[in-house]
Amino acid sequence: MTDKTRNRFDLKGKLAIVTGASRGLGRAMAVALAEHGADLVLVARSEKGLDQTADAVTELGREAVVCPFNLANAESVPDLMDAIEKEAGLPGILVNNAGTTRRAPATELELADWDAVMRVNVRGLFALSRELARRLMARERRGKIVNIASLMSRVARPGTTAYAASKGAVAMLTRSLAVEWAAHGINVNAIGPGYFKTELTRPVYEDEAFSRWVRQNTPMGRWGEPDDLAGAVVFLASPASDFVTGQILYVDGGWLSLV
Ligand SMILES: NC(=O)c1ccc[n+]([C@@H]2O[C@H](COP(=O)([O-])OP(=O)(O)OC[C@H]3O[C@@H](n4cnc5c(N)ncnc54)[C@H](OP(=O)(O)O)[C@@H]3O)[C@@H](O)[C@H]2O)c1
Repeated sequence: MTDKTRNRFDLKGKLAIVTGASRGLGRAMAVALAEHGADLVLVARSEKGLDQTADAVTELGREAVVCPFNLANAESVPDLMDAIEKEAGLPGILVNNAGTTRRAPATELELADWDAVMRVNVRGLFALSRELARRLMARERRGKIVNIASLMSRVARPGTTAYAASKGAVAMLTRSLAVEWAAHGINVNAIGPGYFKTELTRPVYEDEAFSRWVRQNTPMGRWGEPDDLAGAVVFLASPASDFVTGQILYVDGGWLSLV
């Protein structure tokens, strides 16, 4: 294949970590990366869920390593990375997708709930990104980091204070790390999903009034399906996005463009 016809979205020979890969958006993105040739390191707490994702990856002829890990324990991230390197090598792609929420009016939000959200969505994400970047830089290797932000990196809704604050932080972490690490060949971008049907949103999409509100506020008139993120994650993980860094790509059916 000449340089002009090479597939810039090809991920063959690449190794990608996806956190929160035991279900939902993480599983869909892991499968999308595998469809484009990547081998996967799958991180989350539920070994059973990770095994199911690994089966989907290996059915596509790619390798999958399962790493049960609680991202609230950021101090242990170097041990996790040692184990990953020993088993699979040093990944060049990291999709920071694991996330959690606690829904409550701000006046009733406990500090323990605030901490639980921040520990995973922000502190865990930072610790893993920093550890990978240190190792890539030490070997003068390039990398791609894709953070999963949210509509709530930009806009808010009552009852989601900790989550919205955490996703605002993810947006600024994306930009901060992008400008620090650009010179090292490490691209840092984010995807901002709109409303997608997963376990995380089950309490709200099962509420018919809320579900209708989402459809009405989404110009495309529907909830997102996990597979709707496939194109965005492959783009941001692949050579097709080599000159893109510090960006948040919203995949929201047009939500943020509606007045
Ligand atoms: N669904 C949406 O509409 C939507 C919209 C915008 C942004 N997002 C973001 O997209 C990401 C994925 O969400 P989702 O909708 O797929 O939610 P989900 O179905 O609840 O999945 C969350 C994933 O994160 C993992 N996780 C949670 N806490 C963890 C921890 N302490 N350590 C390791 N892994 C942990 C879960 O695995 P275990 O439970 O097995 O650990 C699971 O794999 C999140 O960052 C979320 O904020 C979702």
